[in-house]
Amino acid sequence: MAKKLHIKTYGCQMNVYDSERIAEVLAPIGFVLSDTADDADMVILNTCHIREKAADKVYSQLGRLRDQKALKEQKGERMILGVTGCVAQAEGREVQRRAPYVDMVFGPQTYHRLPEMVARTMREHGHILDTDFPEDSKFDALPQTRTVEGATAFLSVQEGCDKFCTYCVVPYTRGAEYSRPTSQVMSEAQVLIEGGAKEITLLGQNVNAYHGLDHAGMSWNLARLIKELAALEGLERIRYITSYPAEMNDDLIRAHGDIEKLMPYLHLPIQAGSDNMLKAMNRQHTVAEYKETVKKLRAGVPGLALSSDFIVGFPGETDADFEQTMSLVQEMQFIQTYSFKYSARPGTPAALLESQPEYHVPESVKAERLARLQNLLNQNTLAFNMAAVGKTYPVLLDRVGKSAGQLIGRTPYMQAVVVEAPNDCLNSIQNVTITQAGPNSLQGLIVSRGNAGLSQRAHA
Ligand code: SAH
Ligand code: SF4
Ligand code: F3S
Repeated sequence: MAKKLHIKTYGCQMNVYDSERIAEVLAPIGFVLSDTADDADMVILNTCHIREKAADKVYSQLGRLRDQKALKEQKGERMILGVTGCVAQAEGREVQRRAPYVDMVFGPQTYHRLPEMVARTMREHGHILDTDFPEDSKFDALPQTRTVEGATAFLSVQEGCDKFCTYCVVPYTRGAEYSRPTSQVMSEAQVLIEGGAKEITLLGQNVNAYHGLDHAGMSWNLARLIKELAALEGLERIRYITSYPAEMNDDLIRAHGDIEKLMPYLHLPIQAGSDNMLKAMNRQHTVAEYKETVKKLRAGVPGLALSSDFIVGFPGETDADFEQTMSLVQEMQFIQTYSFKYSARPGTPAALLESQPEYHVPESVKAERLARLQNLLNQNTLAFNMAAVGKTYPVLLDRVGKSAGQLIGRTPYMQAVVVEAPNDCLNSIQNVTITQAGPNSLQGLIVSRGNAGLSQRAHA
């Protein structure tokens, strides 16, 4: 009989991808995904360690699951509880200490071993901790099958990070930078397309540093990979996330101009607008270099839209540093941004700085800076959305809306658009004229069926 599996995912897109793969690893041993943890035979939390709050969430969620597990046991049944992702990797022992009822703690690089872990848990009722960084990549052992929901799919091509930004846990939780071989990526893309994917987002913590090997032992960079993917029939849109500014090489910049299927939208986190802060963060780029990269990109794709990430209140950030961030944002007109208060992470160099009073930025200052920054960023997003009114975009309609007869899709710039549309438009690209805009979404009307004649990049 099928067993119910519930996976709750926190953090970044790579965790979303990993959760899909975890379900695929468990399917052959009888687990079927369920939307709720109620009555589940297995619950897995796929966790994020990036900021303190993210990690805290896990422990409160575990508290709730403990009760559900107990209830199930009262009925003489079992709920296997697993914790994976970056919290498992960073503090697996702590998870076991604080939540001894968790059966399996395993890192992001070992989930291909899950069938074995599950068998052991069933047999021994013991507690498993597997946070190795195995010699052989999990990707070599994962099933060749992929389940595609709708027309968009994630595809991890690169994992880990060697950049060691002073605030960041990722190099510790995900390990050294690794690029999947090109043939593996190409065949996974083919499987996704056959499963219905029209848009693929290539994932990596430093995706633009991709350098996978082909059969002949030659290395492809991301530009080459995108070019080869763009030649696959049935694939209509390519995106990639997240990029490190200093890795935006000329090939990739040129690819934005040359490859029609590559969307004119790029997430390029800068973190701060002050060179002093960038240096303290160990970011290997200056503000001027970042601007130069953007200038080159926009020369190739006029109207290319950018999004970014910011950290406010990094140890030692002065008012003057912060004002430089504000003016950078003013100048660059990011259409979407993610901004956070600096959060000290155990074991990172910046956490040591933060513990020294002369570097510590008080919470109230952090909060005030974040509010000012987010206010400005939101204005930019709204202005960009408002400017869409009256324009016609190709929109990939990949979800059903809340009301009957509504579909929701994305413009090339990732803006969500709600349209009245017949159901047979689901999972297709339609030309949509935007009629209304708000801070979080747009509304529009389908003007012509199919995206014939309208470039996905040039919008008059
Ligand atoms: N690899 C990506 C970022 C991954 S983490 C890059 O280099 O851009 C996603 C975002 O979380 C980062 O861009 C950063 O803005 C934020 N972040 C990471 N560590 C943080 C910390 N300790 N405190 C606050 N924000 C943090
Ligand atoms: Fe973290 Fe920096 Fe690596 Fe991004 S580049 S994952 S911020 S260490
Ligand atoms: Fe979080 Fe790990 Fe992603 S720390 S942001 S889940 S790489």
